[in-house]
Amino acid sequence: MRYVTRELESEVQRAARTFPALILTGPRRSGKTSLLRHVFPDASYFLMEDPNIVSRLRSDPAGFLDAIRPPVILDEVQNAPEVFAHVRSRIDMRPRRAGQWLLTGSQEAPLMRGVTESMAGRAAIMQLRPLSIRESPKVALLSGGYPEPLARPRTASLWFSSFIQTYLERDVRGVSDVKDLATFRRFLSIVASRHGQILNKTDLAGPLGVSVPTVASWLNVLELTAQIILVPPFYENLGKRLTKSPKVYIADSGLACFLLGIESRAELAKSPFLGAIFEGFVAGEIIKTQTNAGRRPEIYHFRDAQGLEVDFLVPGRSGRLTLVECKAARSVRPSDSSSLARVAAAIRLHRTPRTPLNLFVVHQPAAVPARFEVLTPEVKAVSIERLVEEIGQGGRG
Ligand SMILES: Nc1ncnc2c1ncn2[C@@H]1O[C@H](COP(=O)(O)OP(=O)(O)O)[C@@H](O)[C@H]1O
Ligand SMILES: [Mg+2]
Repeated sequence: MRYVTRELESEVQRAARTFPALILTGPRRSGKTSLLRHVFPDASYFLMEDPNIVSRLRSDPAGFLDAIRPPVILDEVQNAPEVFAHVRSRIDMRPRRAGQWLLTGSQEAPLMRGVTESMAGRAAIMQLRPLSIRESPKVALLSGGYPEPLARPRTASLWFSSFIQTYLERDVRGVSDVKDLATFRRFLSIVASRHGQILNKTDLAGPLGVSVPTVASWLNVLELTAQIILVPPFYENLGKRLTKSPKVYIADSGLACFLLGIESRAELAKSPFLGAIFEGFVAGEIIKTQTNAGRRPEIYHFRDAQGLEVDFLVPGRSGRLTLVECKAARSVRPSDSSSLARVAAAIRLHRTPRTPLNLFVVHQPAAVPARFEVLTPEVKAVSIERLVEEIGQGGRG
């Protein structure tokens, strides 16, 4: 596949003009190394996974860094976290020189903890997720967004299975309380079987014979490595009893399909998971829109004790809120908008001053329509492309 321009590139370039360092995190194989090498073709490059480099660095960190002329890419720094203290002191010698230290690392590594804090003010921290639908039209429910299975769809299942293997061996091993990778692999499959559901930790712990705190810490590992998305419940008191647990999704829809044994578009179309896969895909694209703009992911779900629910609520600029209902179907009907209207009414009743709301039913139209379809006076039917465009603009409406 030819190099696909990443949306995050402009944020990376902007940060490199302001901060001495930048730290790019994100799941493995999402394109971190490719992005940095593309944006900074003249920077020198060191892979901290290379045993030669790591041992040179360990034996003489100051000497190692003295021999380097920034700008430099230090890739996978979680393998040599001692480098941070030295990078920091070099930054403090020349605090005005921007864009010198270009680092990638995985956020979950125990050794990385505290490192991001210690670089506060010196480094911009950004997260790169797999390709979004805005970046490549090939991104879809079945394939997901990782560049490699998109480039070679025929061998996608082989890719996903080796991806999981490497993920377990490199990212999960080393996390303190994961002693048994085989059990963690089963855990991943069980999480996939709950794709799109309200998270119930007890229900996950039972079949694995592990404790609820263990499940909580394993979920944390999956979330920090951006392998799952946990969508928390809406936080505002609307005078209703709301579900307090998050909804859980496998972050990449291609990986979700692989874990659920869905191998073709025909199988996906018939699968009982179709609705949930579509919903998770929408959540993933919303989050990519936010992280690619250098923002924190922010998305909620709404469900009350009476079963009234709206899939997603997304805060935008100046208090605006976008409410999203997902329908995996090609066409939608005005009745698909009824829970959106009811939740919107509850929000209007409880929020002062009045909140500007955008209400969307997102679906899969046969062809991407130019704009949107008016479903009711206040609800529009949109494609995912159109939805993320709206959210990218801060939900202006
Ligand atoms: N922007 C891109 N366009 C096309 N292919 C890409 C892009 N970014 C990454 N890839 C491909 O995806 C794979 C993983 O990319 P890499 O940069 O090594 O990911 P990471 O550093 O996050 O593990 C590589 O085979 C690479 O060629
Ligand atoms: Mg890399």
